[in-house]
Amino acid sequence: MSSPENNFLSDCQQRIQPWLDDFLQQQNGLASHLSAAMRYAVLNGGKRVRPALAYASCLACGGTLADADSAAGAVELVHCYSLVHDDLPCMDDDDLRRGLPTCHKAFDEATALLAGDTLQALAFVALTSSHLDSSQISRQVQKLALASANMAVGQALDLAGEGQQLSLAELEQIHEHKTGALIRASVLMGAIAAGCDDETTLNALDLYAAKLGLAFQVHDDILDVIGDTEKLGKQAGADAEHDKATYPALLGLTEAQSLAAQLHDEAVFALKPLGCRTNALIWLADFLVARDH
Ligand code: IPE
Ligand code: IPE
Ligand code: MG
Ligand code: MG
Ligand code: MG
Repeated sequence: MSSPENNFLSDCQQRIQPWLDDFLQQQNGLASHLSAAMRYAVLNGGKRVRPALAYASCLACGGTLADADSAAGAVELVHCYSLVHDDLPCMDDDDLRRGLPTCHKAFDEATALLAGDTLQALAFVALTSSHLDSSQISRQVQKLALASANMAVGQALDLAGEGQQLSLAELEQIHEHKTGALIRASVLMGAIAAGCDDETTLNALDLYAAKLGLAFQVHDDILDVIGDTEKLGKQAGADAEHDKATYPALLGLTEAQSLAAQLHDEAVFALKPLGCRTNALIWLADFLVARDH
């Protein structure tokens, strides 16, 4: 049952959960229903993959887990915001997230919209309140801001792609933006937290994250076809219902699965220049293309 990647992921989950809880608790002056919606969106589960990637990358570059806390927390806040908005009726119109009613169902649409907005802004408060030096913080802020903008670009392209017959290149562009961008930012912010400014290392990590980010969304598309609603904690089959452009829809299930496996291998291969501290990054890559939720 227990495998090294599960241990690493659950260690990261156990570390980031109280961090997020404390951070949200410290934010004064929020209307109570807005604060409740934010806590609901952030603290109710989630695999915490992006925090784990930030931690793993920081360790790979010789940093400590504590160095990566603010990057891990900030990227998860942006991710949770993206999920709240992704589920809104004007976007994917989903009722179930992380095994619970979506934020706009548990609260209301306006509150969910504003909870998302607030979470995104607070992610930058988290980054700029860390113990890292100002040049590290400013590099992290730039990475996260660009990634968040690219995520929104990807979401816009995703919605525009509903019902369209897209080329493989167009689909890749959507997935690299809506999902890949935040995964890349997670890995790079972790490296920056460790004080890494070596171009070869940063380029290798960026290539790993780009390949893995795409593999992650290809696998998410596959799970929408073959996954189980209860295990996923979100409605299976939702992509077909919305006539979404996905990898299984474009390539067929088997070819989409081979592509995810190939991207995984390319991600792991990209880590070669880093030497021996990459165990956690490799475990996470293995987990992400084998997961059932
Ligand atoms: C879901 O992300 C949205 C995508 C980008 C595919 P996750 O699968 O990481 O969702 P949680 O955070 O574990 O709920
Ligand atoms: C979401 O992609 C990407 C985001 C930026 C949130 P999906 O729409 O496929 O994510 P799920 O399947 O709803 O989690
Ligand atoms: Mg979506
Ligand atoms: Mg969705
Ligand atoms: Mg999906």
